[in-house]
Amino acid sequence: MGTREHEIYDVVGIGFGPSNMSLAVALEEHQANVPARPITAAFFERQPAFGWHRNMLLPSTTMQISFLKDLATFRNPMSRFSFVSYLHESGRLAQFVNNQDFFPTRQEFHQYLEWAEASLADKVTYSSEVTAIRLPAEAGPGAPEYVQVEVRSAAGAGTRVVNARNVAISTGLVPRMPDGIPSDERVWHSSEFLEKYNRMDPDQLKSVAVVGAGQSAAEITRFLYDMLPHAQVSAIIPSYGYSVADDTPFANQVFDPSAVDDYYFGTERTREAFWRYHKNTNYSVVDDEVIRDLHRRSYEEEVRNNKRLHFLNLTRVDEVKRAGSDTRVVLHSLLDSEPQELDVDALVFATGYDTMEPTKLLGDLDRYCLRDEAGRHRVERDYRLVTTSDLPVGIYLQGGTEHTHGLSSSLLSNIAVRSGEVADSIISRRTDRELEQEIAETVSETV
Ligand code: FDA
Ligand code: NAP
Repeated sequence: MGTREHEIYDVVGIGFGPSNMSLAVALEEHQANVPARPITAAFFERQPAFGWHRNMLLPSTTMQISFLKDLATFRNPMSRFSFVSYLHESGRLAQFVNNQDFFPTRQEFHQYLEWAEASLADKVTYSSEVTAIRLPAEAGPGAPEYVQVEVRSAAGAGTRVVNARNVAISTGLVPRMPDGIPSDERVWHSSEFLEKYNRMDPDQLKSVAVVGAGQSAAEITRFLYDMLPHAQVSAIIPSYGYSVADDTPFANQVFDPSAVDDYYFGTERTREAFWRYHKNTNYSVVDDEVIRDLHRRSYEEEVRNNKRLHFLNLTRVDEVKRAGSDTRVVLHSLLDSEPQELDVDALVFATGYDTMEPTKLLGDLDRYCLRDEAGRHRVERDYRLVTTSDLPVGIYLQGGTEHTHGLSSSLLSNIAVRSGEVADSIISRRTDRELEQEIAETVSETV
């Protein structure tokens, strides 16, 4: 897309994953209803093209939400951006229904997102990383009307600046490696899995290990076991065994749009109860089907008396020693007082992610943003950072609001409703601003 340097956009979106795509949809649907009052929006994405966790698009992995929790349906069941609309246009609606499964493959959901993106492509610029948000250099003494967003182009076009009355930060989860262990060509985080795996000659992967007991770890362990029939595959798991992700109906209510209000307006004790009782809906847990798949493979090996799938339970990694293509992992097991060593050709850390944190992007602007007693950003119900009154620009977070809005903050479950709430807030704040300006002008004319 072509952005105009001097224009002030109503919204600049940072990142173009499903959250900000959903916001683009909500804004577009608003525009369709009120064509005379367009909202101007520009999105910047650092990847060269649209991609949703591409490095984890493993064969047969499935979504962890119903297909109805797409970019739009929960906000607008009539949306042309729904998963059902995609199926209809792809000629697969009847077969999908016959499949009788709420959970499409991640491959199919990715295709759906690509299909939706094709209708939104004029709003997004790829290979463009946002490096800072700052006050305009020429800002006068009053409260600034807009902020400047600094965008670095990977295509060699240097850095440019766009002006924004509102910013929607949606830069996603941040891969987490254990302290002091960098990733390299033999040591990978799960977020880079397929890219790094595809660079290897599979015949040279005779021993591989996967660290972690979450969904990513279990899926990668199953993948490596199936793809490398000659290899020893070790699963280094901190627990005694994989624990199941609770997606039963009552527990799943924590992801309902109404749970956001219960969490947001609840007390500290309410919020603590959400986490205490329901963390196992998402963190360090694995879908039942994947657990059973792995156990079946392990049991078949027992029957054949030929083991190459090894579960090292109650075990964590103490150290990784690297030299050329050699990797030695020092393990600490709670079942053994002595450390053990394991030599591998590739080591995958499926050790999870940190939540989105906007402090670095905000730079100097962060001093306008208020924090709670625990030092976390305060966030309005409409996902806007609470700022001092001398920063009236809206800085919205799509992600990174687990402490204020609850468990669905980093997930897809609520993106349709959340982005509708963000769009409504942007639109109603614009109306308020225009009304205030009109009143001020009338007053100055009459004086
Ligand atoms: P997401 O991470 O998708 O997008 C953020 C985008 O911002 C990225 O494209 C990134 O390149 C870009 N970006 C980052 N910094 C930038 C910058 N400075 N400038 C410009 N662009 C920048 N949840 C769920 O509910 N159901 C599910 O089935 C799954 N499945 C799943 C699988 C895997 C493998 C993972 C790791 C996670 C999930 N999740 C999930 C959770 C996941 O957070 C969720 O699916 C979405 O990715 C959230 O969408 P976002 O747009 O918020 O982030
Ligand atoms: P996760 O659920 O946070 O799991 C991380 C695992 O790594 C935990 O078992 C954790 O153990 C372990 N770990 C962390 N540090 C460790 C260390 N130093 N040594 C040993 N183990 C360590 O992360 P994830 O599996 O990547 O899942 C992240 C999100 O992506 C979830 O929302 C998940 O549902 C989603 N996801 C979805 C799909 C899909 O849709 N098919 C696929 C993959 C992921 P502790 O519990 O002890 O910390």
